[in-house]
Amino acid sequence: MVKAGLEDVVAASSTICDVNGKEGRLIYQGYDIHDLAQQSTFEEVVYLLWFGRLPTKVEQEAISNELRANRRLPDEVLKIMRLFPKTANPMEVLRTVVSLLSMWDLDAADDGREANIRKATRLTAQFPTIVASWDNIRNGRQAVTPREDLNLAANFLYMLQGTMPDELSATSLDIALILHADHELNASTFAARVAAATLTDIHSAVVAAIGTLKGPLHGGANQEVIKMLIKIGEPANVEPYIKRMFEEHKKVMGFGHRVYKTEDPRAWHLRKMSQELGVQCGETKWYEMSRKVEELVFQDKGLYANVDFYSASVYYMLGIPIDLFTPIFAMSRISGWAAHILEQYANNRLIRPRAEYMGPANLSYVSLDNR
Ligand code: SDX
Repeated sequence: MVKAGLEDVVAASSTICDVNGKEGRLIYQGYDIHDLAQQSTFEEVVYLLWFGRLPTKVEQEAISNELRANRRLPDEVLKIMRLFPKTANPMEVLRTVVSLLSMWDLDAADDGREANIRKATRLTAQFPTIVASWDNIRNGRQAVTPREDLNLAANFLYMLQGTMPDELSATSLDIALILHADHELNASTFAARVAAATLTDIHSAVVAAIGTLKGPLHGGANQEVIKMLIKIGEPANVEPYIKRMFEEHKKVMGFGHRVYKTEDPRAWHLRKMSQELGVQCGETKWYEMSRKVEELVFQDKGLYANVDFYSASVYYMLGIPIDLFTPIFAMSRISGWAAHILEQYANNRLIRPRAEYMGPANLSYVSLDNR
């Protein structure tokens, strides 16, 4: 009996992440997301996801230095990026550049664990550079050289905006990256594991994940949320707009979840950030509108906000271009994808499910002249 969308099908054993949909709990390698969001950093979470425990000070410094030392892109790749049409979709740019990077990666032919960790480190370090460099190139600006004295989140904002981010912005983005880092067998991570299970290279498995995350039912939802809020315009317009969406049986992006049947724990932190950033930038309407939408969708559909709903207003108030919202999701999830790819390689069996055949049977072939 086929479970549509493989709903509730357990397709792997993993120590990386647990999503408890009933209780609304998210655990990375045994640590609750609330503790990590309030006390950890994205670079520390990368280490936790990959090595299964919190790093010592020395280990933390080492991975942080490795991530900072590997942010640059090969000059040839930047040259090719300058040939892309300026209207190229940033997720397609990310997907394409990751494919290019495998051609310049000195470890490309080495599929050993140490080499794969080096490649995962380079990709995690380079994703923000790809996204920020693309925004600079498409806007005719000089690509900003990454700074090694800033953590991954702060350096991304610096490369994107050309100025040092304020403390709240840098911290907010760092926490958002922690919240998005992994989520068990979500569609893009499952795509990465299916690819890795054929023993293809890590770059190919990541390209499969990027293409999957791009979909509006998955990572692409956050961009649709902010476009909806901009269309609504003001808090007073929320109710009629949402009511009309329901009348037209339209899905409200940023709500619902295949696993969570209560509040997505990540939304709690992003909702708080949206309010704080609204107060800091003197424009709280995006938060206020979000709260109204949230109340109406819950009242009418009993659905909760997921991770994409409040990340939309958070990224918008951080001054990030809308079509970079999903690439930022990928900038974080590359760490989770890499963790799952490494785990798949370590104890692999080809992932090859069956299909329930529903087609015709025993047909006789009729030649073309007689059809
Ligand atoms: C992410 O898997 C992960 O872990 C993903 C993620 C991660 O960290 O990797 O958490 C990130 O992708 C979050 C989800 C982002 N996507 C969206 O916000 C898009 C809007 N959400 C929906 O498309 C939907 O809720 C899904 C895709 C998230 C889940 O879909 P399901 O489990 O297949 O549920 P469904 O579409 O079968 O909906 C069940 C019912 C339906 O009602 P009926 O047709 O049965 O009457 O709920 C309704 C749906 O119409 N419904 C919605 C809705 N989501 C579900 N109605 C209005 N608005 C919505 N958003």
